Amino acid sequence: MAAATRSVRLATRLAAVPRFSAARTATLSVAQRAAFSVSARRFKSGVIGETEVPVTVYTPDSKGVASSSSDHFSIPVKGGASRSPEPAAEEDEAVTPLDEKVFQQMPRTMQKMSVMGKVIIITGGARGLGNHMARACAEAGAKAIVIFDANQELGDESAAELHQKSGLPVSFFKVDVRDGDAINAAVQNVVDLYGAPDVLVNSAGIADSNIPAETYDPAMFRRLIDINLTGSFLMSQSVGRAMMAAGKPGSIILVASMSGSIVNYPQEQSCYNASKAGVIQFGKSLAAEWAKYNIRVNCISPGYMDTALNKVPALDAQKKIWKSLTPQDRLGAVDDLNGLCVFLASDASSFMTGSNVAIDGGYTLY
Ligand SMILES: NC(=O)c1ccc[n+]([C@@H]2O[C@H](COP(=O)([O-])OP(=O)(O)OC[C@H]3O[C@@H](n4cnc5c(N)ncnc54)[C@H](O)[C@@H]3O)[C@@H](O)[C@H]2O)c1
Repeated sequence: MAAATRSVRLATRLAAVPRFSAARTATLSVAQRAAFSVSARRFKSGVIGETEVPVTVYTPDSKGVASSSSDHFSIPVKGGASRSPEPAAEEDEAVTPLDEKVFQQMPRTMQKMSVMGKVIIITGGARGLGNHMARACAEAGAKAIVIFDANQELGDESAAELHQKSGLPVSFFKVDVRDGDAINAAVQNVVDLYGAPDVLVNSAGIADSNIPAETYDPAMFRRLIDINLTGSFLMSQSVGRAMMAAGKPGSIILVASMSGSIVNYPQEQSCYNASKAGVIQFGKSLAAEWAKYNIRVNCISPGYMDTALNKVPALDAQKKIWKSLTPQDRLGAVDDLNGLCVFLASDASSFMTGSNVAIDGGYTLY
């Protein structure tokens, strides 16, 4: 009955989509598949196993003023090679960090909703949703922001920008989330620099879309699972161990997707959906296992967001369909995860673990 109702609603909403037809979708799919496979092909031979992790650290001077210079060094790692940066750009926005004096004047409830004094690692923080969550944490009182990302150029740029705008200590570690040894070396360095992390936000991820399962290249399938799912595990394990070693309570936030709970329409993307379903179930399992260490684990499941991941001209026609299936009739803004991220990182959510929270403009209601 529920399924029948859903299909009627879906059909009704699709009928409202201008110029939509099955034939048109099929035609678009052929054209789009090539476009969507480009980034995947580009990274298909991406090597994981860096021999060193380049690090850039920005530290304010003794008066707390942002410095224009940075320290560059590398952490040795036993392992492999590197890959080229992805192009992307983020809009210019101010970042105003929470001042200690202002914090002291805030009501207790608002204080608990801050991340005052916390050390926060954000993977995929070089751009997109991760970058905006990093900015939000900087505004909400973080002691230091640490970006882990595979994109050297963009990561360095983002860290420099965040440090300049906020005046906070910000570091960038060029780390591929598939590379366990590099992650461990980098996390140990974070502990040495700032103390054990209080929060991990795992936003690094990729999407292959419009690839039918019958033609899905197994190597591409494995690569996506490795980044989205194994990467979530490797990052959580390394940061979780550092929290345990320091005897610190912690919060791990895994960016999953509504695709981990529903099947997207009309694009075929079985691997992405499976990877995110894995992230959600991994997060729940970890939450149960690590409650005894006072480490909380929660997932954020975004719907369609207006980020570089989706800013592909070939997706324009499908975006109309996505919007029409979203009650709020829009894609999420790049900073729409910020509030929940800060809340989950903060002590205000201290009894919350194992949750999977959708931020999808209502998409999963239908
Ligand atoms: N954009 C959406 O519509 C949407 C919807 C649901 C879920 N998500 C999820 O949100 C997260 C962020 O998405 P986004 O739209 O900001 O994407 P994005 O492509 O803008 O940013 C992803 C970042 O992850 C980094 N990255 C990719 N592979 C990596 C690796 N192997 N190791 C380290 N860093 C790596 C990239 O360099 C990039 O900086 C992803 O996990 C994505 O699956 C996005």
